[in-house]
Amino acid sequence: MEYHICEESAQLASVAAARIRDIAMAAIHTSGRFTIALTGGSTPEKTYEYLAEHYVNDSHWEKWAVFVGDDRFVPPDHTASNFGMGHRLLLSRVPIEKGQIFPVPTHLASAEQAAAEYQKTIEKYFSPHPCIFDLILLGVGDDGHTASLFPKAPALNAISLVTHSPPGTLPPPIDRVTFTYPLINAARHVMFMASGEKKRPVISDLIARKKFAVDCPAIGVNPYPGKLLVYVDRDAAAT
Ligand code: 6PG
Repeated sequence: MEYHICEESAQLASVAAARIRDIAMAAIHTSGRFTIALTGGSTPEKTYEYLAEHYVNDSHWEKWAVFVGDDRFVPPDHTASNFGMGHRLLLSRVPIEKGQIFPVPTHLASAEQAAAEYQKTIEKYFSPHPCIFDLILLGVGDDGHTASLFPKAPALNAISLVTHSPPGTLPPPIDRVTFTYPLINAARHVMFMASGEKKRPVISDLIARKKFAVDCPAIGVNPYPGKLLVYVDRDAAAT
């Protein structure tokens, strides 16, 4: 695990953005493309803005394929949509074509159907290769949840690549679609970003591996042979 402590949240945004861009450039150099899953939550907002502002010109955006690691079952223009946030702050501000962007199909009848369909989209994209993302971004909640993998939830045991999940602990109470451990842990890089004092206990658990994943789902994120990267600001840093 790589553990990076930044002085404050603005620095976290710039350091994380630079790392994302480095991983993108290395992936494009090696394989000709870069596959990334965005995360929701408030922490990555500044990182997305930083990417759009500072790396708009020289990041080979035409080689990026952008997915979302979890989302609420709402249309993309809904305020609670993780994709909507990523689109507004990043994707709409960089030269990336619609065909390179893969939101959760929330126009379907249920979160369950959307999860099944999203898995098919991911498998088709990577086919004939296994579904190995270059980078999956994740946040972590005070209760230890990550993506839409909530403590003690059935989604923790899913063997599919994508699953649906009931609302969990975060408002608003809307069904969700989420990457599962098998997909997350297959990635070449998984990057947690956390900021603020409220995250300190969970970051401490994450670093020390003090709990079981069933109680603190972020602990179940162990990419192998990929790398786990944890970026926090000083307030969230484990003591
Ligand atoms: C979401 C994400 C969720 C998020 C954490 C951390 O839908 O918001 O799925 O896992 O990353 O709750 O969010 P903050 O960065 O806002 O604390």
